Amino acid sequence: MTQLFFSDYDMLAEPAGGLPRPLAIVGAGGLGRETALLITQLNAAGAGWDLRGFYDDRRPATPIVGGLPYLGTVAALAASPTPLAVAVAVGSSAGRAAVVSRLAAPHLSFPALVHPQVALRPEQRLVLGEGCLVQRGCILTCDITLGRFVLLNLGCTVGHDAVLEDFCSLMPHANVGGGAHLETGAYLGTNATVIHQVRIGAHTTVGAGAVAVRDLPPGITAVGVPAKAISK
Ligand SMILES: CC(C)(COP(=O)(O)OP(=O)(O)OC[C@H]1O[C@@H](n2cnc3c(N)ncnc32)[C@H](O)[C@@H]1OP(=O)(O)O)[C@@H](O)C(=O)NCCC(=O)NCCS
Repeated sequence: MTQLFFSDYDMLAEPAGGLPRPLAIVGAGGLGRETALLITQLNAAGAGWDLRGFYDDRRPATPIVGGLPYLGTVAALAASPTPLAVAVAVGSSAGRAAVVSRLAAPHLSFPALVHPQVALRPEQRLVLGEGCLVQRGCILTCDITLGRFVLLNLGCTVGHDAVLEDFCSLMPHANVGGGAHLETGAYLGTNATVIHQVRIGAHTTVGAGAVAVRDLPPGITAVGVPAKAISK
């Protein structure tokens, strides 16, 4: 994992010179519109984001998405010379990593965006990487590390000493127990649980509603209670 930092102040900081900071969302689907809502909620709490619109390789059915314009493809975003903050709202771990790999341009930045009601205090000793998205209702306790571009969808919980490496994705109401470790790109479906101290291998998917009670190897899909592999 790289570029870890306390993100608390970056997200809610007053914009430099009092001017709103331009921000665009990559992904014009449902998660993109939910991320736009997150930005609106952050702004209501004092953040200064100027939300410009959506980029997506798939042109939406209409030029306006959730009240904001469609701005073009990922390639157009990478080629644009304008300094811009970017939120990558792609739900799949692999899809998000693929988009990020195409956005390595010095004028683009990737702030961690955390819902304003999610507690993120210095005494919790949380470390978040760039590009993390943490939605409403999430609870993180203490001594937790989130790598780069980790997605915590609505209402997830993450316990003490847990590590979620780069590009991990938790769908709504997923739970990660104390000391659990999710390797790069692990994906937890809606309501999935990884109990304390369990390690989930890189790019493994834990299906909706599953409970991982033992370590899972990399690159598999596991479902059920307890979670068992259904495919490699
Ligand atoms: C686990 C998952 C990734 C498997 O998807 P898939 O590879 O396309 O697998 P299939 O749908 O072909 O299902 C394969 C088998 O596993 C079963 N299965 C699939 N998901 C399951 C789940 N979550 N729990 C229990 N069994 C499941 C299917 O019933 C099927 O069983 P069968 O062969 O006896 O008929 C998917 O079902 C899932 O749970 N995704 C999470 C989605 C989610 O939470 N999205 C959030 C959006 S906000």
